[in-house]
Amino acid sequence: MRGPSGPGELRFVRRVVWLAAAVLAVTFGALALWHTNEPQEPLLVTTTGEADVRSQFSLTDHTGRPVTEADFAGRWQLVYFGYTNCPDVCPTTLAYMASVLDRLGGRADRVAPLFITVDPARDTVPVMAAFVAAFSPRLIGLTGTEAQVAEAARNFRTYYERMADASAPGGYLMAHSGYIYLMTPKGRFDAVFREGDQPPAELAEEILMRIEKEK
Ligand code: NI
Repeated sequence: MRGPSGPGELRFVRRVVWLAAAVLAVTFGALALWHTNEPQEPLLVTTTGEADVRSQFSLTDHTGRPVTEADFAGRWQLVYFGYTNCPDVCPTTLAYMASVLDRLGGRADRVAPLFITVDPARDTVPVMAAFVAAFSPRLIGLTGTEAQVAEAARNFRTYYERMADASAPGGYLMAHSGYIYLMTPKGRFDAVFREGDQPPAELAEEILMRIEKEK
């Protein structure tokens, strides 16, 4: 299957291209990603490099348990910021993540999949519990106070902002970036992905490749 010009090499080239794009996106905020139906705002521009993207937070999980990054020490983390009232990108991205987790098979327990809300006012513990259960029994929902969520987002260098919208439930939408972060067992940045950029099986394979090379 992996001839010199076969699918293996193609996949490798795609990975190199994607890695370059990912590093650019995170480092310079060059690849802004917004929901199609949400107002556009500048992505937080980071000039300090990917090393500054770190998994550090103090939040409450969907069972009501207070958690920090230390609770996931030793496991890789697949992290997505969004909110349960999201009309489009969050549900499709979480379904995509769930599909990736399924394809990780027996090694899925090496990856903690975290969904961190950017709308803690509405995304209470019970709301998060019901929401994550709809996608995957593995998915861990995290919420907290506005300040706790803001701090987590700052540490991941991710953008979100409340936007008034009379047509939205509750009168507002949350604009937010749509990256899926892969963080190492030490909570350091490894890669970012976006829903739909590659089929779930391919992303699962890429994650396994990254896990196997273990930093
Ligand atoms: Ni969303």
